[in-house]
Amino acid sequence: MPERSLILLGAGGHASVVAESAVAAGWNILGYCAAEPSREAGCGALAVPWLGDVDHPKPDLERHLANGARVHAAVGDAKLRERWSARFGVEKLATIVHPGTWISPSAAIAPGVYVGAFAVINATAIIGIGTIVNTGAIIEHGVRVGSYVHCAPRSTLAGLAEVGDRSLIGAGAVVLPFVKVGADAIVGAGAVANRDVEPRATVVGIPAKPVEARV
Ligand SMILES: CC(C)(COP(=O)(O)OP(=O)(O)OC[C@H]1O[C@@H](n2cnc3c(N)ncnc32)[C@H](O)[C@@H]1OP(=O)(O)O)[C@@H](O)C(=O)NCCC(=O)NCCS
Repeated sequence: MPERSLILLGAGGHASVVAESAVAAGWNILGYCAAEPSREAGCGALAVPWLGDVDHPKPDLERHLANGARVHAAVGDAKLRERWSARFGVEKLATIVHPGTWISPSAAIAPGVYVGAFAVINATAIIGIGTIVNTGAIIEHGVRVGSYVHCAPRSTLAGLAEVGDRSLIGAGAVVLPFVKVGADAIVGAGAVANRDVEPRATVVGIPAKPVEARV
């Protein structure tokens, strides 16, 4: 078995992006877990086998794990990503980094993180378990990002900002320097958060203000 063998958890759009990034980074994808076989996923396009549901996998999954394969939860839903990652344990989680990124050598990246194409993670930033730093996202110096966060495409966390666990920083949103976003919060697409965001709050607009969110 090659050293970097991977099983993807999930088969939706995000999984297709992660699958292609993983292949570009030299991972060998052995298969994917999802509720049912998918023709949509990059996994499907790459013609790798379906290994059953995450909670009821086929025996092949255990065999691959015993042979050293890693898993990566490739799903946008933070709580699902957390649950699936926990099922396999941190030591089994693969961090997938698209080769076209800049990650500072002084940054600390936890297991299970995805870093997409054109993303930048600058000096001394810290990224928690299972976080998505999506296409073109910028994480500036000294930023602290919790676990299972999603920094959506082209979002920017300015220097020394902080983001709590499971929060979503929407596409193109900006969190200004020193601003703290609480856990389970949402900063809407295109928003500029210039003040701290309460845990579980949703904020939108420029400057970002709270809004009742359905999601
Ligand atoms: C903020 C967000 C979560 C709200 O979603 P929602 O709960 O479904 O809320 P609604 O779409 O019903 O919008 C509620 C109100 O906020 C406004 N609103 C929603 N998103 C907004 C945004 N990003 N910026 C400004 N206003 C926004 C709506 O126009 C609506 O205003 P109204 O009541 O005056 O009509 C969502 O719009 C968003 O921005 N999600 C980020 C998505 C993203 O970037 N995903 C990454 C994918 S890779």
